[in-house]
Amino acid sequence: MPTRKLLIATRNRGKIDEILFALRDSLFEVVGLDEVGVPSDFEVEEPAMTMEGNAIIKAMTYGRKAGCLTLAEDAGLEVDALDGRPGVLSARYGPGTDEDRYRQILSEMEAVPADKRGAQFRAVIAIYDPRTEKLRTCEGIYRGVIVLEPIGENGFGYDPIFYNVERNKTNAQMTKEEKNSVSHRGMALRKAKIILAEEFYE
Ligand code: IMP
Repeated sequence: MPTRKLLIATRNRGKIDEILFALRDSLFEVVGLDEVGVPSDFEVEEPAMTMEGNAIIKAMTYGRKAGCLTLAEDAGLEVDALDGRPGVLSARYGPGTDEDRYRQILSEMEAVPADKRGAQFRAVIAIYDPRTEKLRTCEGIYRGVIVLEPIGENGFGYDPIFYNVERNKTNAQMTKEEKNSVSHRGMALRKAKIILAEEFYE
């Protein structure tokens, strides 16, 4: 039986689904913000210049608010030809919807040739225990290529424009299982599971 609650500190539906899937056999009782009584209008700013900084701020702020062991994640897309943009600003890279933002990337990359369209997703996870003040982080990186036109319906965010060369499909053409096995978030979560089991399980 799980003995300890682990709060997943995000309201991003796409992330929640992937994190719940990756932690489905975890030693912890995985709970969401609503279940620990964090009001839906309680927002945490993301003022840091790095994903690691923002993941730490989210884990510590939500962890203290809920009084519970907390996992927070910050992620983004880093495009080689755009000097690493949108990076830490991925969720706020232009107004509108996820589709508006990935179309903006495609238009900024119109003149970029096929061999220069490399990119990577990065995910940083922070785990914070408000009782002991212990804080740990880990990271996952996932390389791919930015396509010319969006393909696929699954996933979220920039998934329709991120192509996995080995699998010959975009993230948005993968099932949750397949994306978890190759993605930045899947990699970071596999590391997080080991850290949780070794350092936070009691
Ligand atoms: P965050 O909430 O600041 O971490 O925002 C991350 C943003 O990066 C998301 O809103 C997406 O636009 C993008 N992003 C992060 N991970 C993924 C992914 O796995 N697929 C597609 N887009 C992602």
